[in-house]
Amino acid sequence: MRIAQIGVGGWGKNHTRILSKLNKLAAVCDTDAQKSKEQGEKYSVNSYDTLDALLTSEIFDAALVVTPTSTHTEIARQLLEAKKHVFVEKPMTYDSKEGEELAKIAEKNKVILTCGYIERFNPAVDVVKKIVKEKKHGELVMLEFHRENRIPLHIKDVGIIYDTSVHDIDTANWLFEDMPHVVFARAGKIKHEHEDFASIMLGYKNDKVAIISSNWITPNKVRKFKAVCTDATISSDFISQEVTVEKNDELETIVNEKKEPLMLEIQNFLDTIEHKNGQVVRAKEAVSVTKIAEAALLSSQKGIPIYLDLR
Ligand SMILES: NC(=O)c1ccc[n+]([C@@H]2O[C@H](COP(=O)([O-])OP(=O)(O)OC[C@H]3O[C@@H](n4cnc5c(N)ncnc54)[C@H](O)[C@@H]3O)[C@@H](O)[C@H]2O)c1
Repeated sequence: MRIAQIGVGGWGKNHTRILSKLNKLAAVCDTDAQKSKEQGEKYSVNSYDTLDALLTSEIFDAALVVTPTSTHTEIARQLLEAKKHVFVEKPMTYDSKEGEELAKIAEKNKVILTCGYIERFNPAVDVVKKIVKEKKHGELVMLEFHRENRIPLHIKDVGIIYDTSVHDIDTANWLFEDMPHVVFARAGKIKHEHEDFASIMLGYKNDKVAIISSNWITPNKVRKFKAVCTDATISSDFISQEVTVEKNDELETIVNEKKEPLMLEIQNFLDTIEHKNGQVVRAKEAVSVTKIAEAALLSSQKGIPIYLDLR
């Protein structure tokens, strides 16, 4: 199987490294010709600076799209029309209607379309998901997420809700195995062109709730979450991948092997194409995350809760 890497910027370099390690890298493509050439030479593959040139000259089965959010739809559309399997970084599209269109093209052309909701592949989330699913500490009633970092100056096209909070929106849906029916958010901007802080409340059935707090103001990186179950509270850190359970006065640390989520995510994309494993992130779920992000932005602008029907 041959995979093309589209976008070799800050994040895409990691995908390129992993594809090369797995011996699947076919070629790289980036509109920044210098970057493309450097990465092509580094991994001894052809490099391109337009998608048209890549599609015309290279034989490949699938592509990873790791370019700015505003470019996702058009790049993915062209690849899907050419019957390539496509992995698009999060959020799949800025506009949920465009995401629905992409999902339809993928279905019509019988190719895989998935999105980079990487925390589903984080071993810490996996541990928490198992505990919740087995109801080891009762029913999951509440989730709390904190994702904070200093401002990423290179992100110009979206604010923190579409860039950052979407990770936690997806993880909340994944852990609750449900979609929220109501969204309420407050957000604002201090230093960025778009919103750079947001607090989002997602309401699920039976009064279950996820509270998502994101900001680009805190100077250090914070990526933590807490799952409140009826009999215990589980705390975790997306970065250290540590999980602790607090029950009555006892604190238990769950020992877990640390793994690179991006490697697991790319491996799942490859396995899905080869029918070795089920697709973890479905296009429809990624579209729902965009719809929730749209609702959060609208709620913060209007100051009202937004009701959704995402079945
Ligand atoms: N899953 C995660 O944890 C995670 C982390 C960081 C970024 N991301 C996502 O990855 C994507 C890229 O983010 P980044 O931080 O690497 O940005 P970046 O600006 O560092 O890199 C983007 C690259 O895409 C190239 N590019 C732009 N338009 C292009 C086009 N039409 N065709 C080909 N190449 C094009 C740019 O030249 C640049 O090299 C975004 O969707 C972002 O949300 C995900």
